[in-house]
Amino acid sequence: MKIISTVKEMQRYVKHNYKRARRIALVPTMGAFHDGHTMLMRQARQQCDRLVVSIFINPLQFGEGEDFARYPRDMEADLAVARECRANVVFTPSSAELYPPGYSTFVTEEQLSRRLCGPFRPGHFRGVATVVAKLFNIVRPHTAYFGQKDAQQCAVIRKMVADLNYPVRIVVMPTVREKNGLACSSRNRYLSARERREAAVLNSSLQKAQEMVRAGVREVQAILGAVRGSVAAAPLVRIEYLETVDPDTLERVSKVNDKTLLAIAARVGQSRLIDNIVLEP
Ligand code: PAJ
Repeated sequence: MKIISTVKEMQRYVKHNYKRARRIALVPTMGAFHDGHTMLMRQARQQCDRLVVSIFINPLQFGEGEDFARYPRDMEADLAVARECRANVVFTPSSAELYPPGYSTFVTEEQLSRRLCGPFRPGHFRGVATVVAKLFNIVRPHTAYFGQKDAQQCAVIRKMVADLNYPVRIVVMPTVREKNGLACSSRNRYLSARERREAAVLNSSLQKAQEMVRAGVREVQAILGAVRGSVAAAPLVRIEYLETVDPDTLERVSKVNDKTLLAIAARVGQSRLIDNIVLEP
């Protein structure tokens, strides 16, 4: 497994491997690997013949007062995991490598980014779109893998790919969960034992919503009310938003007549956690 930290060397690798490899896969990450990351890497490795995993804690996507400084960093452990997942390259650029002094070009998706997490994390999706666009340009992957846990991120990236004509196939993989149902996240490391237990209510209440839909409920108000009621049983979990939206446009819907994304964000202690489920009538 190669460890590459400069853009130049990454481009040299891609140039050398582009013709001989039928498919180059990219799994963009910020490291602190968990089972969600390894699932993406294994899937990507299976479906492609060169796997590039990027590890870059992108300062541009963290707002003021967010957790950039204390975001978990564990490069040695991450490299071992990437090796186990048979990555061919780990791309680990520094901030100065991707954003040298005077850097001034950004990618802004202006519709989907404004919904759900948008108002709570100003500039976040601009940071995500910009770094993913740069990674696509540097690595030129045929396929890039993302996780459904970050449903809005997936929607924004898909839109960017369509709008900017990137020749990249986007694959979205299902959310991997801990034993108690909590979605795996690098940020779960911040949780105390009690917070972790209570945070499981996010998934269990989304499951309840799914059961209501299966039982024939279509009115969003009734579903959201039930989810709020069930989250209220966990006093350490404070809902930031809870919404039902169209999975592609992220526009609000009031009836579950079609596939509908039910998305939740909540504060649990020091952490901000997100989760979602696609309701299918
Ligand atoms: P990060 O949070 O490290 O996540 C990297 C990838 O893993 C993302 O596609 C994310 O959706 C996916 N992922 C995270 N938790 C998951 C889970 N429980 N199940 C399945 N997939 C999961 O997302 C980012 O980094 C950054 O925003 C990035 C795209 C790398 C841009 O900086």
